[in-house]
Amino acid sequence: MNLFSKIQLAPKDAIFGVSEAYAADTAPDKVNLGVGVYYTDEGKVPLLKAVYAAEQELIAKKSPRAYVAAEGPNPYNTAVQNLLFGADSPLLKEGRVATVECLGGTGALRVGADFIKTYVIDNAPAAISNPTWDNHRGVFESAHFEVIDYGYYDPKTRGVDFALMTSALESFPKNTTVILHTCCHNPTGADLNEEQWKKIISICKTRELIPFLDIAYQGFADGIEEDGKVVRLFAESGLLFFVASSFSKSFSLYGERVGGLCVVTQSKDEANRVLSQLKRIIRTNYSNPPTHGAAIVATVLNSPQLRKMWEEELAEMRNRIKSMRHALKEKLIEAGVKQDFSFIENQRGMFSYSGLSAEQVERLAKEDHIYAIATGRICMAALNTKNLDKVAKAIAKVIVSK
Ligand SMILES: Cc1ncc(COP(=O)(O)O)c(C=O)c1O
Repeated sequence: MNLFSKIQLAPKDAIFGVSEAYAADTAPDKVNLGVGVYYTDEGKVPLLKAVYAAEQELIAKKSPRAYVAAEGPNPYNTAVQNLLFGADSPLLKEGRVATVECLGGTGALRVGADFIKTYVIDNAPAAISNPTWDNHRGVFESAHFEVIDYGYYDPKTRGVDFALMTSALESFPKNTTVILHTCCHNPTGADLNEEQWKKIISICKTRELIPFLDIAYQGFADGIEEDGKVVRLFAESGLLFFVASSFSKSFSLYGERVGGLCVVTQSKDEANRVLSQLKRIIRTNYSNPPTHGAAIVATVLNSPQLRKMWEEELAEMRNRIKSMRHALKEKLIEAGVKQDFSFIENQRGMFSYSGLSAEQVERLAKEDHIYAIATGRICMAALNTKNLDKVAKAIAKVIVSK
């Protein structure tokens, strides 16, 4: 017996497990649809031109790598706020939004979860959609929340089961933290429309729920402004709420860990008090954030020329995914699939709930070296003009010969 002999092996993360199986496969034409990353048509993670140009500017400045404040640099935090709420937001003008740089969207969720649990309410659960991004449960459980869920997806319509969602929200106890994907729902690709969001806002008000918006894919559905619309609706509603945002996908800065947490409060004074406690949470976890990723994002967003370049590149990523959605639907028809796959085109963002069963997913890997998540989630951004035919034919095969 020693200190660690009783430690059990942690269960494998579903997504990393798929990536491991893919890495171990030696087939030259293998495809990994299990990832949560945007790939170019050449199958590469892009280095955006706007990011590269910003890095050149930063290198030329020869800035020293001093510590930054726990909340992150002001030009970055202001850029985060403007992107989410709009530069002319009354909330921002009134100083009612406390903002901290965080380690990606995950870090923002965790800092927000710790803040709620420690300083706001310690006896109410957190609610996540069913299904959701795997880590939502883990993050909130690690912050000592009881995690409950609300029904979200209707496999029959391949869209949102809004009645199920609203009836769950209406049954939650007061002060439940409700995690809401503002756009490009991961893993289903099924989003609410504006009317439905208004109804969610109204339920949050009457049931006194705490909305926690998760926006990890701004710009991947319809555009930066359009995808920020849900945040604006909450801002106009008078509710107090949280927003966790991420630049991992929109800037292709996955490894830099750049995100932000915004807390909408009632007054400037309240925002200052909230900020002071957020800083304490950060200080006692990792002291202060890294500098490079936030400097890139701030340089791009605060330069009209680089921002334009970034918006064009983001539009290119968005449009490539849309064209892959369309092409997959067409190729499946060509491959003899009778089942209606038009939902693939209607779903938004990086992912699609394909409706493939765990068995069919297993067959894709065994027979055709195509890897996906057992739930049937496929990453549309991992499709390209070279692997599309192979993927469509393999999917058609497992569907037709069930
Ligand atoms: C819904 C959702 N929220 C948050 C995140 C976390 O993003 P990040 O990599 O910036 O931590 C992801 C990443 O896949 C996500 O899908």
